[in-house]
Amino acid sequence: MSAFRYAAVVLAVGSLAGVIYVVASGAGQSSITAQRFVNLQEGPTPHEGFRRAHAKGFCVAGEFQSSGKLAPYSSAQVFQAGQTGFVGRISIAGTNPTAPDLRSPVRSLALSLGQGDANGWRTAMNTPPVMAVGTPEAFYEQLSALAPDPATGQRNPQRIQAFFASHPETQAFLAWQKGYVPTQSFATERYHSINAFYLLGPAGQRQAVRWAAVPAADTLAEPLTALNPNDPDALQAEFLARVKQAPVVFDLVFTLAASTDNENDPTVPWPEDRPQVVAGQLLIREARPEANGQCKGINFDPLVLPAGMAATEDPILRARSAAYAESFRRRARESL
Ligand code: HEM
Repeated sequence: MSAFRYAAVVLAVGSLAGVIYVVASGAGQSSITAQRFVNLQEGPTPHEGFRRAHAKGFCVAGEFQSSGKLAPYSSAQVFQAGQTGFVGRISIAGTNPTAPDLRSPVRSLALSLGQGDANGWRTAMNTPPVMAVGTPEAFYEQLSALAPDPATGQRNPQRIQAFFASHPETQAFLAWQKGYVPTQSFATERYHSINAFYLLGPAGQRQAVRWAAVPAADTLAEPLTALNPNDPDALQAEFLARVKQAPVVFDLVFTLAASTDNENDPTVPWPEDRPQVVAGQLLIREARPEANGQCKGINFDPLVLPAGMAATEDPILRARSAAYAESFRRRARESL
């Protein structure tokens, strides 16, 4: 889309103005800012006090038991053999804090490991392994195409179709979406980092990686309690019951990129034969509704990384960080 063909991108995270992108186009100046992202996400009637994306969720807590197998690749404390506590949040995508769990096309797991430590690590993961698009401008366009028409309150299928037709980079995402069968529990989904990061090793080496939280082999595949399709909180109720019986366990699996893989493009899956390292296991021992959990006041900013990890140049990461901060500011002003 020519209006978004940019000549310059200026990053300025964290300022009160919150301007993240200045985009110069042939048609004059247009700009995408954190505010514009969040305005678009929250829509005309924001749900005050809630996250402007992934508004519905609940809090979890537990510990990461590191195997130490990632220590040769990263000097981060969290990857040395041992344990690190975490606070997390399980959510569904969307802006409605009372949306039915079973209708959401995307489920999510966010973690703050070593919460409160100077060397803490935050990660927010989604069920798809790739993004549909690879730039903030295209993501803004995608959100605009998916937004309900203000006149009808309905999505416009022609507009959505036109968006995907003009973005061939959406192919891998669409292929995943076609084959995805939602599971019957948040405990049995795979959650992906999607964006790549670098591990910084003790000898100064740098390795591009993506990771995923993968249900541990002995995870019960069936829902613990029969899911009531009419209960908007069906998945949440199942998880709360499950964690009371036993910890919910995920392997934290890292995929190591080859030098030929592009770590800056989250639309392209890496070949399946790339080496994988199981960094350890996430044990979720507690789950509680957000209102009385510890996760409400956390901004799961993907650029909060410990020494021993670093961001790639993937432009989505900067846009995420700025938009999460803007969403956090709005909801904190309203309710924290
Ligand atoms: C430019 C792209 C993106 C934008 C603008 C965006 C925007 C947002 C915003 C505004 C929030 C609410 C933050 C808060 O109030 O705390 C959010 C939450 C979240 N996002 Fe994104 N997002 C993007 C891409 C992604 C990607 C690629 C992933 C997955 C890897 C992701 C996963 C999540 C998750 C899991 C949450 C909920 C975290 C929580 O439980 O607090 N987002 N996103």
